[in-house]
Amino acid sequence: MNAYHIPVLVKEVPEKLITDTSGVYLDGTVGGGGHAAAILPHLASGSLYIAVDRDGDAIKRAKKTLASFSNIIFYQSVFSDVDTVLHEANIHGLNGVLLDLGVSSYQIDTAKRGFSFRDDAPLDMRMNSKQALTAADILNNYPVEKLNTIFRTYGEERYAAAIAAAIGKKRQVENIRTAFQLTKIIRACVPGKLINKSFARIFQALRIEVNEEMKILQDGLEHLFSYLNSGGRLVVISYHSLEDRLVKQFVQKKENPCVCPPQLPYCACGKQQEIKRIKPYPVKPAHEEIEENPRARSARMRVGEKL
Ligand SMILES: C[S@@+](CC[C@H](N)C(=O)[O-])C[C@H]1O[C@@H](n2cnc3c(N)ncnc32)[C@H](O)[C@@H]1O
Repeated sequence: MNAYHIPVLVKEVPEKLITDTSGVYLDGTVGGGGHAAAILPHLASGSLYIAVDRDGDAIKRAKKTLASFSNIIFYQSVFSDVDTVLHEANIHGLNGVLLDLGVSSYQIDTAKRGFSFRDDAPLDMRMNSKQALTAADILNNYPVEKLNTIFRTYGEERYAAAIAAAIGKKRQVENIRTAFQLTKIIRACVPGKLINKSFARIFQALRIEVNEEMKILQDGLEHLFSYLNSGGRLVVISYHSLEDRLVKQFVQKKENPCVCPPQLPYCACGKQQEIKRIKPYPVKPAHEEIEENPRARSARMRVGEKL
């Protein structure tokens, strides 16, 4: 078993992603290389696998895991910003793109990265530790109203306003630097029974803001889709409803891009369907997988084929 991160839907991903064993594939979230290790043995010698991750530790780990494969190049970047690596490799089209969103178990379990509310670590949460902005910066500097919006939008937290106000008060007395300072503030605002859910929602919201996850996903889907060859597949696994909704809406828009008023009896805008869904859609992990790997519980995999 991979202690770094157990890949979710690992049998289904190669089946859905690979349409040409000699093709070029881009893995935008290579992490510990778990999915890559399941995909690469299916690819022929003329193929190329481009492994991207914004986290330098993940790239290091994936290089070790995948050392026996030669048809692979690694690139540290966000997946919305891959022009340079594709240009350098002289790649103009892709046969498949895989995005396995969010954080890896390694990132969550490494206390000093600050992703977990269970460890009293500095509130960092940067996926790329060269980035300047941390979760602590956000808590200590953003206006209270903006914190409220982030907790409501990215965390769907009922007590967002009260928590944001309490942070505003607390930081007048001391800087908020550690996870347990934050959980103490949250605990004072939320009735007892659901407290762990609120911790998870607030930490998720901060992580999304620190790493600009929604914007990068939105931009990345459009940009990577533009590189897909006809017949190429886009495979996206998401772990919370916000990102899954964004992926779903992206596919819907490409499936039915017509912008004509509904009362018009024919299409005048001329926008053509660009994608078809590959069913089942979405794919959810089986009970057995969830029992073995509880993190798989919330996974939803959506697959579209470019027309
Ligand atoms: C769920 S893990 C991927 C696990 C991987 N599929 C495996 O099997 O080991 C998510 C990874 O994506 C990376 N990541 C998240 N958002 C990213 C983005 N916008 N661009 C590049 N990498 C990203 C994280 O750093 C993390 O390593």
